Amino acid sequence: MRIPLLRPKPPQLSRLVDQLTAIEASGVFSNYGPVNSRFEAELASQLFGGVGGCLTVNNATIGLMLAIKEVIEDIDPGKRRYALMPSFTFAATAQAALWAGLVPLLCDIDQETWTPCARSEERLIREYAGQIAVIVPYATFGNCLDLERYDALSTKHGIPVVIDAAASLGSNYIGARNFGTGFRGAVVYSMHVTKTFATAEAGLIYCSDPERLAKLRIMGNFGFGKPRTATMPGLNSKLSEIGALLGLAKLADFEEVVAYRSALASLYRSGLEGFEFQRSVGSRVAYQFMPALLPERCADQREALLAKLAEQGIGAGQYFSPHLAEQPYFKRSCLPGDLRVTGEVAHRIVSLPMSDNMTADEVDCVCTALRAALGALT
Ligand SMILES: Cc1ncc(COP(=O)(O)O)c(C=O)c1O
Repeated sequence: MRIPLLRPKPPQLSRLVDQLTAIEASGVFSNYGPVNSRFEAELASQLFGGVGGCLTVNNATIGLMLAIKEVIEDIDPGKRRYALMPSFTFAATAQAALWAGLVPLLCDIDQETWTPCARSEERLIREYAGQIAVIVPYATFGNCLDLERYDALSTKHGIPVVIDAAASLGSNYIGARNFGTGFRGAVVYSMHVTKTFATAEAGLIYCSDPERLAKLRIMGNFGFGKPRTATMPGLNSKLSEIGALLGLAKLADFEEVVAYRSALASLYRSGLEGFEFQRSVGSRVAYQFMPALLPERCADQREALLAKLAEQGIGAGQYFSPHLAEQPYFKRSCLPGDLRVTGEVAHRIVSLPMSDNMTADEVDCVCTALRAALGALT
């Protein structure tokens, strides 16, 4: 038996030979070409119900860097130097803020949803009044955030918001529209091959404000607001035509992928008594893998437990442990707030296997192996 944590399943390029031949014949390989334009239009209509617009990027890290830079451009860096974000996130969130010249200010998460804790955020906003340049909440593991609250928070304190929605393609807040729909700030998603929307390397910036999107598009093309003339800060975030082709192909079976993974998640929830699961917010969560908290009494033995699973060919991880404030570089470069819940969740978290072609029997095997390993430890 071999059940890896992830079995990436991007669209097969070998089945897209006609489309690849057409790209070759067109002579257009990048620079917001026709395949990319089609992909952006399809994303906007199929996932976001035609509300707002989409800009592809070559990965979500670059997308976050662009989006953060866009909102801090007119801010005095001497005064506003912090990017408020959770410590329970991937390194990319903090790295993007650091590249923009900001210091990540790390807030705690909610005990049940594992998304940024509203009280912790508001406490830090009060404590660092006038010093926060941007709020960068992470929609943890594809769980939905209350974006109306962030909109209100942004208006009340005059602080822009950029959403890290790396795992949220396929997650819906209300009805069938993707999480993020209608938000005026930038919402950044990843299409890395390990994500539910698996391509190879790609990302997406969504926002409902066409002016912001147009500006981000220019920034993503070296800041060229006029032909070959930089009129604003920029970098190269463009997605290649082949990357866009992979995205279009993924879109074709994406609904099935998300629904199937959701069904696997339900099996996990019923197969692992004594574990705690993330409380879902919204009408649907897209699962990249299955996150769960070990029963408290066994958390100290997580390493031994994962080793026992590995002996049986089962891959499991522990995203996000260590959390940001526990990692050497971020210890030097970030400012932690009170992270009590983050510490507890990170101490108990395990990430269990999930993939498009994982079977119900395989979920059962993982649950059985995990229960047996726990039984042997206690
Ligand atoms: C929370 C978070 N933010 C950002 C990223 C970066 O995404 P990408 O790999 O597309 O750069 C990831 C990737 O896993 C992530 O988990």
